[in-house]
Amino acid sequence: MSTAAPEPKGNMGQPVPRYDAYAKVTGKAAYAADMPLSRPAFAYLVTSAIAKGRIDGFDLAAAKRVRGLIDIVTYENADKLKQAKLFSNGGYVSTTIQPLKSPEIAHDGEIVAVVVAETFEAAREAAHAVKVNYTAAAPTATFDSPGTTSGRAKGQLAQFKEDPKVGDFASAFDQAEVKVTAAYETPTQHHNPMELFATSCVWNGDSLTIYEPSQYVYGLKNGVAEQLGISPEQVRVINPYVGGAFGSKGSMTPRTAIIASIARRLGRPVKLVATRDQGFTIATYRAETRHQVQIGASRDGKLIALRHEGAEVSSRPDAYAVGGTKTTTRLYACPNVDSLVSIVRADRNTPGFMRSPPEVPYLFALESAMDELAVRLNMDPIELRRINDTNNEPIDGKPYTSRSLMACFDAAAKAFGWADRNPQPGSMSDGDWLIGYGCATTCYPTQMAPAAARVRLQRDGRTRVEIAGHEIGTGAYTVIGQAAAERLGVPIEKVSVVIGDSDLPPAPVAGGSNSTASTCSAVMMVCDQIRQRLFKAMSPNESLIDKAKETVGVGQTPSARRANSDAPLDLERAFDALGLSAVEEYGEWKPEGAPADSFRAMYQGQMRMVGGDKMKDKIAYAFGAEFVEVRVNRWTHEIRVPRMVGAFAAGRIMNPRTARSQLMGGLIWGMSSALLEATELDQRYARYVNDNLADYLVPVNADAPSVEVILIPEQDDQINPAGIKGLGELANVGTNAAVCNAIFHATGQRIRKLPVRLENIEV
Ligand code: MOS
Repeated sequence: MSTAAPEPKGNMGQPVPRYDAYAKVTGKAAYAADMPLSRPAFAYLVTSAIAKGRIDGFDLAAAKRVRGLIDIVTYENADKLKQAKLFSNGGYVSTTIQPLKSPEIAHDGEIVAVVVAETFEAAREAAHAVKVNYTAAAPTATFDSPGTTSGRAKGQLAQFKEDPKVGDFASAFDQAEVKVTAAYETPTQHHNPMELFATSCVWNGDSLTIYEPSQYVYGLKNGVAEQLGISPEQVRVINPYVGGAFGSKGSMTPRTAIIASIARRLGRPVKLVATRDQGFTIATYRAETRHQVQIGASRDGKLIALRHEGAEVSSRPDAYAVGGTKTTTRLYACPNVDSLVSIVRADRNTPGFMRSPPEVPYLFALESAMDELAVRLNMDPIELRRINDTNNEPIDGKPYTSRSLMACFDAAAKAFGWADRNPQPGSMSDGDWLIGYGCATTCYPTQMAPAAARVRLQRDGRTRVEIAGHEIGTGAYTVIGQAAAERLGVPIEKVSVVIGDSDLPPAPVAGGSNSTASTCSAVMMVCDQIRQRLFKAMSPNESLIDKAKETVGVGQTPSARRANSDAPLDLERAFDALGLSAVEEYGEWKPEGAPADSFRAMYQGQMRMVGGDKMKDKIAYAFGAEFVEVRVNRWTHEIRVPRMVGAFAAGRIMNPRTARSQLMGGLIWGMSSALLEATELDQRYARYVNDNLADYLVPVNADAPSVEVILIPEQDDQINPAGIKGLGELANVGTNAAVCNAIFHATGQRIRKLPVRLENIEV
């Protein structure tokens, strides 16, 4: 009788506890602003009180009287920095609006002065004493404000290549038996990571070290070098932990090169920790969006025509857009599809990525409209998705590498108890509370980018993995450690992982949910190089070498990979044969379809992200289904969400513990984006009003009493060697629609503008 050996608990797929948990709960984890500096000067920002106009002059007399003041840097005396290109246009920066360059003001809260002093308190006091004289002009705040300019997104932004269309939408819609036409709106939102936007710059001769929370240390290193006009070799970015980012730390903000230039001028380290409210305007945000969705269907529920038009706000100089019709036009089978995304320019800071761009706003529109169609068809909304489920996206007919959408719906519906729902709106209640059940689809593209890694294995099994990945709270350390533990057959306790440093082998931005697939693929490949070397040393015997030849390649099934991984590696024998006590390997990995210049670009902090809808003959997305119960108080209209259930299929799950945590967080954020989160804009001044965590509403535990996450097994051999789809951004997509669909079911009132507050409920 033989029993299979239990899977080592540190291997891929195991619920390994967080590698960084101990450091975090004991306060030992050092974030950027915690890094000890020798004799630092402290910087404090002064930001613009107007959104449009110019600075006439400064009155610095009072500020100069503050004891401990070192310098006040304004456009009049700042070092000149090179103009940089926008991140989404092949550059590094989050905005091309360069503060301290001229007296012109481009948006409210733009940096107009940096005050440097011996202490943080002195810098703050002097900053508050800086008087700026402005000539203000009337700013343009948002959609419908006087003075906006509007244009099609396509053609304005390098990364924005298409408004997908197929067939003949207009005549198909004309002839459709059942139609929905509806307009939807999502608000301005800010990431509000717990960790503030901090930057410390230390020069050592010609070399610059930057401590800054970053989702992309290679991008920051190369971007700062470009702006300062120095070699990237002279710049090192260090951040072992990022205290939340959600996209806001993915591209370089103007503050970094400014602080670096001030530190160079002063000849001493300079430390900046921008305030919470300054973070609203010196970094990016999710811009407000508007949508019109038209769906035409036959009586039996088949989609015949779909049109999605979206509009997004951006700054005057930068054509930033997330453009989510690339996803919404491909989600369901439909022969006639049309779409258009436009950008509306106003006097605002440049928006940027925020968790699950572009799917959060665009799927809100589509998944709300699908629910409206289901109501019109008198059809169960799950049935409507089933009827229009497809293995081939409708625009180019490319097959999904795998698609478990309906398996997710079935599992989540069962766990939620959907069968108990009376479809009649307003029919379910409990005392004073109207009860509503709603659901929606989620999906997020599977993306990957080239990465490199260095792995060192010792005879005693101790392993060191080096890769410039990022721990943004997702569990990056843990899953990278698991990949090495499994491939080398060593216990996870013996693996140390070093990330968050631009001196390490390059990894892509921790964004677009690509990190686990990209970094783990690179680490697995390098571990396999080590295995090959050891097997080769042990024996010239071909069969042994063949056994080790499982160089990670696309198309290798996880089961084949597992079988290879089981080829036992006797470390002591192998190292004896090799005559060494340790081996080290370095390798560069790139996903299928990555362009020829991928590796060169990778070192330059230029990503060549592939996957999603950009693959040649296939399309790769992760899917899920989300169910929400809402309770709306009959008298006060208070809205509660007593429970949420989500089922998700995202290929191989590297670590069910960290995955569940990501998906739970996503569901809660998705609910929050429906009911709580919005940055209020004072349209007279184009100014954010609730720029603090007291007024910017986010959920607390009592707002999310029950959140259930179901992981649906899914094997996908076509995406990357590990079969990983990525799930960091999956669960907060569609949730906003599920909440509104549930509110409709509870009340009979359809709400098409987020966030939904009790004053919006009219029944
Ligand atoms: Mo994310 S918004 O791709 O950091």
